[in-house]
Amino acid sequence: MEPTTTGVNPLPPLQIGDYTMQVPIIQGGMGIRVSANGLASAVANEGGAGIIATVALSLASRYYQKGKDYFRANIKALIEELQLSREKSPKGIIGTNCMVAIKDYEAMVRTSVEHGAQMIISGAGLPLRLPEFAQSNPRTALIPIVSSLRAAKLLAKRWIKLYKRVPDAFVFEDPNVAGGHLGVNRKQLFEAQHGSDNVVPELAEWSRKEYADEIPIVTAGGVWDRKDIDHALSLGAKGVQMASRFLCTFECDAHPNFKQAFIDAKEGDVVIVDSPAGLPGRAINTPFTRTLFRGGEVANQCFATCLEYCLCREQGEAFCVAAALHKAQQGDMTNGLVFTGTNAVRHTKMMHVSEIFAELCSGQPVSS
Ligand SMILES: Cc1cc2nc3c(=O)[nH]c(=O)nc-3n(C[C@H](O)[C@H](O)[C@H](O)COP(=O)(O)O)c2cc1C
Repeated sequence: MEPTTTGVNPLPPLQIGDYTMQVPIIQGGMGIRVSANGLASAVANEGGAGIIATVALSLASRYYQKGKDYFRANIKALIEELQLSREKSPKGIIGTNCMVAIKDYEAMVRTSVEHGAQMIISGAGLPLRLPEFAQSNPRTALIPIVSSLRAAKLLAKRWIKLYKRVPDAFVFEDPNVAGGHLGVNRKQLFEAQHGSDNVVPELAEWSRKEYADEIPIVTAGGVWDRKDIDHALSLGAKGVQMASRFLCTFECDAHPNFKQAFIDAKEGDVVIVDSPAGLPGRAINTPFTRTLFRGGEVANQCFATCLEYCLCREQGEAFCVAAALHKAQQGDMTNGLVFTGTNAVRHTKMMHVSEIFAELCSGQPVSS
């Protein structure tokens, strides 16, 4: 490959199933409408894959009304987001993120496939039945998120046996740095063995030996700049999934106050909370987390029954995660929970998605 004018090698394209991303970047799904049509279409227009997070998509939509059918509203909101993304990015690659842990997981997968999602990225649990729910369009690429080689092996074996289908790629999410819900328990958090430097080479070697390199490994967590992408590729990954880097973009679908929270955050402002989903989650230290940590009162009324298993609904513990994340997305920085990766405190200003891509492709910071 010829170096660019900046002397940096061009990034290689990423092939997943029938789809080729000109830039090997998948935008990580960010739930409760942080990544909806605005961010997804902008990323797709730059040659990456734009991902709409399906969880609780209806909450900030015209389809949801308190006391009405939340699950039906989610379907309508997802159809609309897929249509809008396609209008804004007619040729880009658009997919969805579907969390196994949510009650309407099957409906979100089926709706995604029926309404044109080109890929489905699925984690927060092992997506054992994903091929069954997605069978109406075999061209939709199916990409499980895993946090170990063991999980990847188990899943591939199961899909081949039951569905004669090999995953189109795996996203490995590094729990030590990624944002949102994390794939290991509290005790295992921050252990180097679970980090990308250890697991990505293992996954890449396994894919090469067992599947003739046909299952690309995409690494997620802590990828911020071109150096991080080059490092990921040197570990054997074929691409990266990035979420936190896109939070302070004009195209990100959350309220401006939400974005400002990252610009204001400093080193040391990132904390771990115990989510009612039974997983640790990474968040910015805000009034919400401070109240939570001192045992004060935070929103704990279940209003959407969104999770399959929920400590808030079933045992009155923790807090309503949908309510807390929704409040933050709407700009309520006192009562909202702000999920983040460790890197998000590096934001200093708002940018356009196109500027971030220009910087990542050229390896040069873009002045604005
Ligand atoms: C605000 C926020 C919301 C997220 N929501 C989801 C989600 O709904 N589903 C999911 O699978 N991952 C979710 N994630 C994880 C990201 O998709 C991504 O894999 C991870 O954050 C990558 O690390 P990075 O943020 O350092 O790039 C979320 C992350 C953030 C920061």
